[in-house]
Amino acid sequence: MRPPKLFTPIELGGVTLPNRIVVSPMCQYSADDGSMTDWHTVHVGTFACSGAGLFVIEKTGVMREGRITHGCTGLYSDHNEAAMARVVQVYRGITKNPIGIQLGHAGRKASSHPPFAGGRPLGPEESSWRTVAPSPIPFGEGWHTPHELTRQEIGKLVDAYVAAALRAKRIGFDVLELHSAHGYLLHQFLSPLSNARRDLYGDDRMRFPLEVARAVRETWPRDRALGARINATDWVEGGWQPDDAVAYARELKRAGLDFVCVSSGATVPHAKIPVAPGYQVGFAERVKNETGINTRAVGMIADPDQAEDILASGKADMVAMARAFLDDPRWVWHAAERFGVIIDYPPQYARSRHDLWPGAQLARPRSVGRG
Ligand SMILES: Cc1cc2nc3c(=O)[nH]c(=O)nc-3n(C[C@H](O)[C@H](O)[C@H](O)COP(=O)(O)O)c2cc1C
Repeated sequence: MRPPKLFTPIELGGVTLPNRIVVSPMCQYSADDGSMTDWHTVHVGTFACSGAGLFVIEKTGVMREGRITHGCTGLYSDHNEAAMARVVQVYRGITKNPIGIQLGHAGRKASSHPPFAGGRPLGPEESSWRTVAPSPIPFGEGWHTPHELTRQEIGKLVDAYVAAALRAKRIGFDVLELHSAHGYLLHQFLSPLSNARRDLYGDDRMRFPLEVARAVRETWPRDRALGARINATDWVEGGWQPDDAVAYARELKRAGLDFVCVSSGATVPHAKIPVAPGYQVGFAERVKNETGINTRAVGMIADPDQAEDILASGKADMVAMARAFLDDPRWVWHAAERFGVIIDYPPQYARSRHDLWPGAQLARPRSVGRG
């Protein structure tokens, strides 16, 4: 029998993922002035035990003002760097599997509450801050009107990405992912819904994201993987479209990036998104086929057979999951069981492997995720 594609290794740049299952970046809104806290140690520790081929740390602000909320992680201070290094050390003590970080800037979507506190913009009495964007167009009704970035400020932002990437390099991450999706700053430059500039950065909306990608590529070692999360579409007429995503992925590849993760939406609040299982996979397939870059599919992927089918049919090279992993951090173990694959568990937990239970074939408890 052919081994399941999910459990075959993949090479990204100089980094080998032992399997193609990725824990998608997930904001925890639990940092203190950008610095990781005990919550992150538990969260990252949980996924260090998961067996996932790659764990990607949440969107981390390259500047304090680039955080979405007061609780978002950052890499703009020595304290941020030291706190994150400690958490990464915990991860390394549990698994040899690679670990990545997503760097970003929230732009006009910064200065807001976390989703579990309503997600609305911060008020002046809530220590709100001035947001920035390519154009002074708010994200939606009631949102901050962002300051239109000057050319000089755009240059400083490129420097901030490089400075944060240098911190990530010192911490020792294997993989760095630029967040250029979901209506955050890089994507705000890409989308005509948020970029109405009449200068070089408006005539060529990819200009700033590609400047960032090239500058970070120069900083980030060649033997470590560099990628980006991109939007396939804004799901709004007149917005960013799949053709744009293909062209952008091609340019990212030319800039030396090793992979992209194809997501969509969140550019404007009123988009109508036809959410359904695997609803973004077709976009990943197009990007993969038309550019040849290593491509990760994400969005409403939850079942091991569904994930395997995406890879086995060549629609993507990796799958990322967020909510399925929050629901079941042992997803990889259960998928391995379903496909009869033996994977490494942390030795402390190895006795949970069902084939090792005495009389397991009869007495084995069943739970969601086990075939
Ligand atoms: C709690 C939570 C936090 C998230 N934070 C991020 C993030 O930091 N960066 C990002 O690109 N996407 C983020 N996302 C989106 C996920 O990475 C993923 O793309 C999305 O949830 C769809 O995948 P799923 O259907 O497997 O959950 C987050 C999602 C959740 C549920």
